[in-house]
Amino acid sequence: MTLYLRKTSKSLNISLMLQAKIDSIRSEAESAFQAASTSRDLYELKVKFLGKTGSFQAVMKEMASLSVAEKPLAGKLVNEAKQALEALYQSCESALKTRELEEKLKSEVLDLTLPGVPAGRGAQHPVSLVTEEISMILSRMGYSIRTGPLVETDRNNFEGLNVPKDHPARDMQDTFYIDETHVLRTHTSPIQVRTFENEKPPLRIAAPGSVFRSDSDVSHSPNFHQIEGICVDRKVSMAELKGTITYFVGEFFGKGLKTRFRPSFFPFTEPSAEVDCQCAVCKGKGCRMCSDTGWVEIGGSGLIHPNVLSYSGLDPKEWQGFAFGFGIERMAIIKYGIDDIRLFSENNVRFLEQFSV
Ligand code: PHE
Repeated sequence: MTLYLRKTSKSLNISLMLQAKIDSIRSEAESAFQAASTSRDLYELKVKFLGKTGSFQAVMKEMASLSVAEKPLAGKLVNEAKQALEALYQSCESALKTRELEEKLKSEVLDLTLPGVPAGRGAQHPVSLVTEEISMILSRMGYSIRTGPLVETDRNNFEGLNVPKDHPARDMQDTFYIDETHVLRTHTSPIQVRTFENEKPPLRIAAPGSVFRSDSDVSHSPNFHQIEGICVDRKVSMAELKGTITYFVGEFFGKGLKTRFRPSFFPFTEPSAEVDCQCAVCKGKGCRMCSDTGWVEIGGSGLIHPNVLSYSGLDPKEWQGFAFGFGIERMAIIKYGIDDIRLFSENNVRFLEQFSV
């Protein structure tokens, strides 16, 4: 009996101590929950008090030393406190969340009447623009468009054009060799060889495209563009060549600009002529653009050399032809008054967007 009483009083003592401890944690948690200013802080407090390593878990550990009879009572006390705190957490959390949402809505004012940010529009590159325009003019003059590969055989780029291997004329167009028999084409003239071997004259072909040379300075880029004009028929003379080019130049730059033909040399034409056009910027008076000469060179031309025709199986006694090759960047430079060839490949948007139509 004594033993029982003693045990009861001891047990009561322990329960009271535990109760006091639980109460103190509970009231500490309650005031902390109520003082939390953000839902994030509140959540951290919840972890601190109710979490797996929180204050109540420590109390539960202490309960291990209690007797079997005391444990349920202590457990009940802990559970009651935890439940009450859980409920308080829920109500504090929803109040904080509501307040936070209201603040967010107030700070993020969305004005649906504001005009949108316009998306930048692309523009055609001046080289594409000029290529297209030149091709259109030549199409109207009865020329059909053909293209060829950028990596060309040495045969089509040189040999078929009357430039034999190891011939000094190769120095005119030093290039990038891919291997012994392939080069990056140095001009659009290999399309002459391709055309003569695949199509039957009479023919009129225009071939625009990218070409490569092993030189680079202020006015030369290792990669630029050309357009080749090819005409093969019975009885073609320099008169047709001059007439065609003069008409074409007038269509492209505007009527009234004169053309001039200077004797020149190309292995694949005989006779050959360099084509100059009156400077479109100063109309021939002389300016920076044309180095005060009034004229700007746009490319080469001539009557197709008999060796070129016979190399590709055409009888030069039956067929004659003329060809010309103009630099597209050159023509763009003259037409738009651009003073630096490097602008074409720098991809500066402020330069490029000036050509948008
Ligand atoms: N292919 C020559 C060059 O690039 C230009 C040209 C073409 C000359 C056709 C005559 C005839 O320099």
